[in-house]
Order: sequence, then C-alpha cells, then structure tokens
Amino acid sequence: MSLTKKINYFGGWLDVSQSVSGVVLALFLWTHLVLVASILFGAEAMTFVAKTMELSFLSADGHGYPWVVSVIAVVVGVITLVHVLAAVHKLPLNLQQQRALRQQMQVIAHSDTRLWVWQAATGVGILLLLPLHLWLIGSAPETIGPVGSADRIWNDGVWMIYLPLLLCVELHAAIGVYRVLIKWGSGTAVNRRHRIRKIKTIVSFVFVLVGLASLLAFLPHAT
Ligand code: HEM
Repeated sequence: MSLTKKINYFGGWLDVSQSVSGVVLALFLWTHLVLVASILFGAEAMTFVAKTMELSFLSADGHGYPWVVSVIAVVVGVITLVHVLAAVHKLPLNLQQQRALRQQMQVIAHSDTRLWVWQAATGVGILLLLPLHLWLIGSAPETIGPVGSADRIWNDGVWMIYLPLLLCVELHAAIGVYRVLIKWGSGTAVNRRHRIRKIKTIVSFVFVLVGLASLLAFLPHAT
C-alpha cells in the first residue's frame, strides 16, 4: 500500500472512530440526563433509579454495588478519550490555522461551518469540565441520590461546573449527531438537512430545559 493510501486509510478509520464514539457518547448522555431527571418526580424516584443503577436487586442486603457506577465512569472516560484523540487533529490549534478558518468563514458564510465552530468550542469546554464530573462521581458513587447529589451540587458549589457542562454537552451532542447524519446518511438526509437541523435545535433546547429544571429540583433536598 502506498503512503498516500495508508494515510487516507488511517484518516478514514479516525473519522469512523470519531463518529461511532460520538454517537455512543450522545446516546449515553441523553439516557443519563433522563435518569438524573428522575429527581423531578421526587426523592423516592431518584433513589429507585440510583439503587437500580447500582444493581441493588442483585444483592441480598439491597445495598447494591456502587463500584458498578465507578466502572461505568472509567468506560465513559475511555470512550471520551478515543473521541478526543480522533477529533483533535481537526482543531485549528495554532494562530495561523485559526486565522485561516476566520478568513474562510468570511468568504463562505455557510451555517454548517458556524455550527462546526460551536462544536469545536463546546468540545474544548467539555474536555476541561467532564474529567471533574467523572472524578466526583466515580470516586464517590455511593453519594449519588437525592440528598448526596443535592449536597454536592448546591452545598459544595458543583453547580458552577454542571451549568456550563450542561450547555456545552447539549449543544455538542446534538450538533455532533446532526453532522454524523449528514456525513454518513443517505441523500435523503442531505435533502432534509433543514428539517434535521430544526430537530437538532429542539433536542438541545429540551435537554437544556430538563437539565436546568433537574438542577433546581435538587435544591430543596440540600441539607
Ligand atoms: C459513569 C458516568 C456518569 C455518571 C454515573 C453520572 C452521574 C451523574 C449524576 C448522579 C448527576 C447528578 C448530580 C450529581 O450527583 O453530581 C449528573 C449530572 C450531570 N452529568 Fe453526569 N454522569 C456520568 C457521565 C456524564 C457524562 C459523560 C456527561 C457529559 C458528557 C455528563 C454530564 C452531566 C451533566 C451536564 C450533569 C448536570 C445535569 C443537570 O443539569 O441536571 N455526565 N451526572
């Protein structure tokens, strides 16, 4: 295989890895937010969800295995790392590349390029904030629940991490899935681009609302 072919082949694998890991993370994120939103239905509902995630139904004393949550945190961390490594070579890391991007955007003001810039910027935000969240959760999985989570968010001030993280992930995930659909989807997806874009915006908006409502719903449980 010639060097050019090898490079193209490698680039193709990077692209596929980025899309697959991105879609897996987006699905995880949306499922996870629905689970966190159980707090909107009260303390009992969230306790039930937290205990079920810890597989309490498998343990004789009903306490479950909080370490399962730590294992999930490590797996999510590894998938995130794969996603970052596959994506980082596309970022305009030096000033020259950033200038070239700005010039390009002035020449061709395409809305999808603007979306890409948002995706890159929110990606950097996630890169800074997500490790903190995974560490907080993964190192103390037994604290997850209405009182423990409320304590963390409101008494320990972790809302200052969750609020920007929520905005970053909900923009990033929906834009990412939209781009995957356009990139790998059939011609139909491209023809329905405007419709899919609207759905993307609604998805981001709804999940941000649910996330904000959940954060506020923890407040009365903070001791
Ligand atoms: C093992 C993996 C994860 C677990 C067990 C987990 C668990 C939780 C829990 C229990 C909360 C509620 C607050 C708390 O107790 O601190 C929370 C909030 C949050 N998590 Fe995660 N999380 C995980 C991974 C992630 C990932 C990968 C992302 C983003 C890509 C994420 C984004 C968020 C956001 C934005 C909030 C705030 C939610 C809101 O606004 O209501 N989490 N998470």
